[in-house]
Amino acid sequence: MLLVKVEGARTRQLWCDLLGELRPGLVARPFDAPDARPEEARYVLTWAPAPGWLAGLPNLRAIFSLGAGVDHITTDPTWPRHVPLVRMGGEEPGQRMGEYVAWACLTLLRHGRDFARAQAERRWEYKVGEDTARDLTVGIMGMGALGAAAAPMLRGLGYRVAGWSRTRKAVEGVESFAGAGELDAFLARADVLVCLLPATPETAGIVNRELLAKLRPGAGFVNAARGPHAVVPDLVAALDSGQLSGAVLDVFDPEPLPAESPLWSHPKVTVTPHVASVARRRERARYVAEAIAGFEAGGPLPNLYDPVRGY
Ligand code: NAP
Ligand code: GLV
Repeated sequence: MLLVKVEGARTRQLWCDLLGELRPGLVARPFDAPDARPEEARYVLTWAPAPGWLAGLPNLRAIFSLGAGVDHITTDPTWPRHVPLVRMGGEEPGQRMGEYVAWACLTLLRHGRDFARAQAERRWEYKVGEDTARDLTVGIMGMGALGAAAAPMLRGLGYRVAGWSRTRKAVEGVESFAGAGELDAFLARADVLVCLLPATPETAGIVNRELLAKLRPGAGFVNAARGPHAVVPDLVAALDSGQLSGAVLDVFDPEPLPAESPLWSHPKVTVTPHVASVARRRERARYVAEAIAGFEAGGPLPNLYDPVRGY
């Protein structure tokens, strides 16, 4: 049996129906269904289960995360570490993240925030910048599945692309920087910094005053990874001083972004509500159904969380 633990009774049922359709024979149940007995659960599909809930399922064979990030699961101190944890994968998350990052970089380049404000005030604000995408380098922090998918889309728009990751990458047309020792050189290249890192103890607060000061003056910033990566007061100070010319932010800590946050009304900030890469339910259900089919046929589970790396 697979238990679905997500918000909303109707949504849970939709997941169960899809999983049953895509893998006939798999019994998928909302976690709160009358016949959903914890000891019968072999698999779980979840986003942010209440702390302690996973620990109450004694016979789990795998946990599937609804998202590519698994921090909503691993922050539960009682999550069963001996059970394989599968991160969401497939092609669609990369396509969608690439679209978001491309849009965010273009909205920074083409003054999207200024025009939205001017339109709201019925003001004709004529503004054409000097640079085109061909004049700019986008630096992507985190060249994993999503960074690697975004890079060629940015290249297609004319941007130069640099990537920073723990280990060196060979992505066509992308200058690769690896490890803490090469972070400063990477930052010095970036006209737009895009954060696509996982949330780990090493990456918490990484986008802070010290890091922002190493960017080219007037750089743009895009955070489509996790809220805790960015230190908001440092971000606001960099925007106010002109060190940053603008920011597009999709993720926050906490979410939803509280009404009193200065980010909502900052003239240089575009806020989106954690929508950068949400793959269609059917695509994600297919990914899970195929992973279970492969696993039950004796194969390995894909895209596993690695407790040593922390992502
Ligand atoms: P991934 O494939 O695991 O890639 C993570 C990348 O970050 C890898 O390149 C990794 O380096 C690098 N990295 C990790 N720790 C590092 C460190 N300390 N220093 C330098 N580089 C480091 O993850 P993904 O699938 O691309 O997803 C990335 C994150 O995006 C997720 O964890 C999630 O938080 C976020 N996300 C957000 C949305 C949204 O809608 N806003 C949607 C999906 C995901 P190596 O390649 O060397 O391992
Ligand atoms: C969304 O934030 C994800 O991790 O997929």
